[in-house]
Amino acid sequence: MRSRHKVILAIETSCDETAASVCINGEICSNVIYQQKVHANFGGVVPEVASRAHLKKINQVVKDSLRQAKIKLSDLTAIAVANGPGLMGSLLVGSGFAKGLAAALDLPLLPIDHLEAHLYAHFIDKPKPDLPFACLLVSGGHTFIFCLNQRRKWTLIGKTLDDAAGEALDKCAKVMNLTYPGGPEIDKRSKKGNHLAFSFGHPKVEKFNYSFSGLKTSFMNFIRKQEKKNPNFIADNLNDLCASIQYTVVEYLLKNFRNYLISNDIRNIGIAGGVAANSYLRKALSQMGHELNAKVFVPDFAYCTDNAAMIAKAADIQYEALVIRQPNFVPYSRSPWKS
Ligand code: KG4
Ligand code: ZN
Repeated sequence: MRSRHKVILAIETSCDETAASVCINGEICSNVIYQQKVHANFGGVVPEVASRAHLKKINQVVKDSLRQAKIKLSDLTAIAVANGPGLMGSLLVGSGFAKGLAAALDLPLLPIDHLEAHLYAHFIDKPKPDLPFACLLVSGGHTFIFCLNQRRKWTLIGKTLDDAAGEALDKCAKVMNLTYPGGPEIDKRSKKGNHLAFSFGHPKVEKFNYSFSGLKTSFMNFIRKQEKKNPNFIADNLNDLCASIQYTVVEYLLKNFRNYLISNDIRNIGIAGGVAANSYLRKALSQMGHELNAKVFVPDFAYCTDNAAMIAKAADIQYEALVIRQPNFVPYSRSPWKS
């Protein structure tokens, strides 16, 4: 196996998933994800609890990913690790583990930007997007529009100025007493609801940027007001409330994305990140692609929410530029991306 060109073990611990993946010569051979359930008790991710849970699981997750890929530690040629942005305590578990392993095995270590990795999820399976390729990256922590240009460089086009789209969905779900993470729950209930039952405005922000904090506040204020008239308002209207807030978030996300695509005549478009698992967003994007005569790329569900296969793929693609033998890098909690 040593004779193989590139055998990368990738580790992801940015938030509340402990994940490991093996990529052999560009092909993803394992993708193990342990989703920490403990946060549901708190209604959101508790950073210290997340770090401890990573520490408990990381050995087993890495072992499982090697076993699934049918390789041994001695077959590896590099280690990749998500280096940020994310929760600092969680990132330190993954990067500390990766640094130790790389030092023990005398292997190069590749620090990978978690956001870029979400975008590279589009290059795991075929067909792969042609360039320029514009991607809406929407997760619990981030909302960005990125474009991969002909020089293979990602450019940041727009971003949220406050809350992320997934965070807004999760917070609205919490107002409705749904369990964390609320996004998938809203998605499920929306299928049985009327998306035009209640309407919420789109905050106006300059250029292709977003703002979600006002939406969450107006949703909460609306519900509290209705509850004064009907204490059972949430239970009586749950599916309609879910469908209406999901519709508002998706329409808002796609409005800015669409403006950018039209003004730059981009014909290869995609979505990435946890919220890309949303069934209405996937459907609406596909309709928009049809209208704009653009090719639409949506990663497999397993590569939308946090996973290590995307870290492995990003490492594989950027390998030559990233290989470092004396790693002195430290993780970063905030995104370094600037528009
Ligand atoms: O990318 P991700 O796994 O972690 C972060 O980097 O944040 O994204 C998690 C986010 C959460 O806000 C979750 O509610 C949302 O993705 N999410 C969804 C769905 N599945 C996950 N939101 C809406 N519909 C879904 N089906
Ligand atoms: Zn993520």
